[in-house]
This record gives sequence, structure tokens and C-alpha cells, in this order.
Amino acid sequence: MNEPVYVPPIKIQGIKTKLVPLIRECVNLDPDTVWREPFMGSGVVGFNIEPRRAVFSDINPHIINFYNQIKEGRITHYLVRAFLEREGRHLEEGDEKFYYYVRDRFNREHDPLDFLFLNRSCFNGMIRFNKNYEFNVPYGHKPLRFSKAYITKIVNQVAYVEDLLRKYDWSFLCQPFEKSISAAGENDFIYCDPPYIGRHVDYYDNWDEDAEAKLHTSLTGSHAKYMVSTWHHNDYRANEYIAKIWPECSVITKEHFYHVGAREENRRPMVEALLTNYTVTGNKNELSRKYTQLSMDDALIF
Ligand SMILES: C[S@@+](CC[C@H](N)C(=O)[O-])C[C@H]1O[C@@H](n2cnc3c(N)ncnc32)[C@H](O)[C@@H]1O
Repeated sequence: MNEPVYVPPIKIQGIKTKLVPLIRECVNLDPDTVWREPFMGSGVVGFNIEPRRAVFSDINPHIINFYNQIKEGRITHYLVRAFLEREGRHLEEGDEKFYYYVRDRFNREHDPLDFLFLNRSCFNGMIRFNKNYEFNVPYGHKPLRFSKAYITKIVNQVAYVEDLLRKYDWSFLCQPFEKSISAAGENDFIYCDPPYIGRHVDYYDNWDEDAEAKLHTSLTGSHAKYMVSTWHHNDYRANEYIAKIWPECSVITKEHFYHVGAREENRRPMVEALLTNYTVTGNKNELSRKYTQLSMDDALIF
């Protein structure tokens, strides 16, 4: 039976909720292995793997601050409920004017509860900052944005993180990936989900070929086991960087649908790839129904 996938309170573009079951099957950790996730984003991958020891990091300080405040007990699910009920009522009365008021307040004061509020009421649950480090995602219009059911869902997501943080030895650091990877030992496992090249989204989410090459050098230098998420191909082109930058890796692929519009015909299939520096073992028949493991020669033929 498939284990359920837990969805965290902060959303982000490129969230890997749908890939969690596959990643789970391709990762095998010893009890002492330290899970390192240098591009944590929402944290959905590591939160579902549930390693005993983990270091989650990201260059975006607001994500890290949010989780550190939960860890320190300064944000609790009770506080989140009271905050969202109050601010949700104000949003109901003030509509988008109130959203932009909170956005300005967050950009001055950086309160993690405002970050949560914006993330859960902005357009498409995006995280995007301009070059002045200001959150600039517009309002995601919806009547009764913070309905009772929606608030309860978010509160439960926060309560779930509180439980995880009580159970496990996890830390959250705001730092660039090079620093996170350089701290890894040979027995650690590093899961990387960098922004995809050429899909520049914002100040904290900028990525190019140089960055991808640096990531490769850092990972090979660490001697740890690693897995990198990337895209493999879509209807129009293949990801040329897989062969160029990651030639020694095994490639596991899985089809994924991105919605680029409300209409069915606008669904664009995108094949996701997991690159690993180890061979994934498991029940071959079971696994092959769910994904394809390709050799590097096959990887770009489809
Ligand atoms: C695609 S998202 C990760 C999504 C995540 N795996 C999930 O499922 O929610 C990429 C993340 O990398 C972070 N990031 C971008 N450049 C970085 C860098 N140089 N060092 C560390 N983190 C970086 C971004 O802030 C963003 O949170």
C-alpha cells in the first residue's frame, strides 16, 4: 500500500509532492545517515523521508526562519490558527487592499506569520522576491480565502511539522548550497532540488549552467551518496545538461504533468529525472511499473 504523502504549510513553485513516493523508493538510509537537503524549498521531500538526523538548508532566509521559529516553539499551530482567523477576517473585509498591506508589512518586518499568510493567499502559492529582497507575488483572488476548512488544513500542516521536530534531530540553516554540501561526510545522503536552468523565477531562485556545474563539483567532492532532481524532457526538447554535466549518474525518469492553464489541452507532460551517483536497488518489477531507470546512453532517446 502506498504511504500517504504529507504536505507542508509553505508552498513553492516546483514543489516535489508528486515525486515523493518515487524518491522514497530510491533512497535507503542507515539510521545514522545525515540527510542533507541544500535546496529545501517547502521541505516536502525530507519531511516525508523522515530521517532521524537532517540538515535542511536554503538560500531563502524566510523559509528557514519559519521552520526555526516552529522548532523554537515561537510559532505553534495554536498561534497560527489565531493569526489566520484574525487576518483572514481582515482580508475578507479589505480584500486585495489588505493583502497588499500585509505584503508591505512583511517586506518591512519579515514576520514569518505574515510570510505564511502571503504564501497561502498569493497567486498560485508562489515564492518570488525582487532584487531588493521584496516579496512581490500578487494577490490570488478567491472569495473566502481563509475559510474555516482552509485554516484548519494549514493548522494541521503546522502541527505535523511540530511533531516531526519533536521526534527528530533536524536543523535549518540559511546558506548557499556549496556551504551545505561542504559540511557533508561520506556517510551522508544529499538530496538536491535546485531551480531548473533557464527558468529564472526570482532573486533567490536564479540558476544557470555555471551554478549547475558548481553543484556537480561540490557533490562529487563530498564523496557522499547523492540524488539530484531535474527535468528530463518535454514535448519540445531534452535537457542537454544531463549528459553534459552529470555523465556518470544513473538516470531515473517519471512523467509529470504541469498545468499551465485551466484547460485540459494545456496540460504539458514533463518528464522528471532523478540523477543518482549510486544504483537504485529494490523490487525490480514493482519499481519498473512506476519509473524507468535508464543508462546514460538511453537517457536522451525518447
Ligand atoms: C525547486 S525549489 C526546491 C523545491 C523543494 N524540493 C520542494 O519540493 O518544495 C529550489 C529552492 O532552491 C533555493 N535556492 C536557489 N538557489 C540556491 C542556492 N544557491 N543555494 C541554496 N538554495 C538555493 C530556492 O530558494 C528554492 O527554495
